[in-house]
Amino acid sequence: MTRSFAPGRINLIGEHTDYNDGFVLPMALVHGCTASVEDASSGWTVASAQTSDDVVVEPAGLAGRADVPEWATYVLGALWLLHDDGVDVPALRISVDSDVPTGAGLSSSAALVCSVVSALDAHLGLGLDAAGLLELSRRVENDAVGAPTGGMDQLVSLRGEAGHALFCDMRDLTSQPVPFDPSVAGLTLLVVDTRAPHRLVDGEYAARRRGCEEAARLLGVDALRDVTADDLDTALARLDDEELQRYTRHVVTEDARVLAAVEVLRAGRLAELGPLFTASHASMRDDFRITVPEVDAAVESLLAAGAVGARMTGGGFGGCVIALVPADAVDAAGEAVRAAFADAGFGEPAVFTATAEAGAR
Ligand code: ADP
Ligand code: GAL
Repeated sequence: MTRSFAPGRINLIGEHTDYNDGFVLPMALVHGCTASVEDASSGWTVASAQTSDDVVVEPAGLAGRADVPEWATYVLGALWLLHDDGVDVPALRISVDSDVPTGAGLSSSAALVCSVVSALDAHLGLGLDAAGLLELSRRVENDAVGAPTGGMDQLVSLRGEAGHALFCDMRDLTSQPVPFDPSVAGLTLLVVDTRAPHRLVDGEYAARRRGCEEAARLLGVDALRDVTADDLDTALARLDDEELQRYTRHVVTEDARVLAAVEVLRAGRLAELGPLFTASHASMRDDFRITVPEVDAAVESLLAAGAVGARMTGGGFGGCVIALVPADAVDAAGEAVRAAFADAGFGEPAVFTATAEAGAR
């Protein structure tokens, strides 16, 4: 039997920039998924400790795939794609067990896929290098599951480093660890899982992506990453559509905020990350329009309770908010969010602290 673990993630800053060939600054979590692969007598069997029924299929490629519950495509996808790549995949049983909350914007799906791909690589002796592991993991999500996501989640789940955020250039897929330990500045990274039901996530995400690609096309660049902060006003003047103007402004200013965040972290000026968080949130709320009342309320109450900065993390339309909070204000900040949610008639949020951990192992 071969076992691999891959973590979920928090993105510190750089939202919806990955599929625009831009910059992101995520970190790996302590929460993650463990995948165990063992030889079997026939077929491919997948089992999850978080679902009730095992799924058994006959070996096939993507075109001949069996109709299975969506969760199983995150696991079988790797086998279908390897089959198509000409790998002679034997009969296997793959079991997964994860403590990443699903659908909370913490990338339970990337933890699942990356743990399975890493375990398969070791078990089958595929010899994939870092780029190969990332490429197969992305193809599972994009081609097998069919989610048009941008690759950040798999990159940090595979390559995260303890005590560091990962500064990623999503154009060439290079990454550099940047020290991230807010405790040295007397700060704590607080996470609020708003548990807001995801609304319209898939369609809205795809629509944002299409809009960004359309804006890049109209501006004559490969991707919005190619519009610099200095070019922004000129670029906006060339776009007639107000929605495309807003998307462009979000992506261009968000890329600039990631670069600024990396600079302040490298200089050890952690508290200066706060205003960048809050500006990023305003951009997601007002320009990119991917927040919902629960996440806006969480950000506002965290800031009112003394956070130096707060923002939604992940794809949007629900999910988690992160905040940098002075260590002695952590309990009060959590209470403030719970009280605000109760007053607004929202469901109860989950509040926890997070540190940057290692990637897949
Ligand atoms: P996120 O990745 O932010 O948690 P997604 O909606 O992208 O949210 O992915 C969540 C989906 O991933 C779940 O609905 C399920 O299909 C699948 N998933 C994640 N972890 C597991 C698991 N341990 N067992 C089965 N399916 C899982
Ligand atoms: C996630 C997606 C990532 C990234 C993020 C927004 O849901 O998987 O690739 O685009 O949203 O920054």
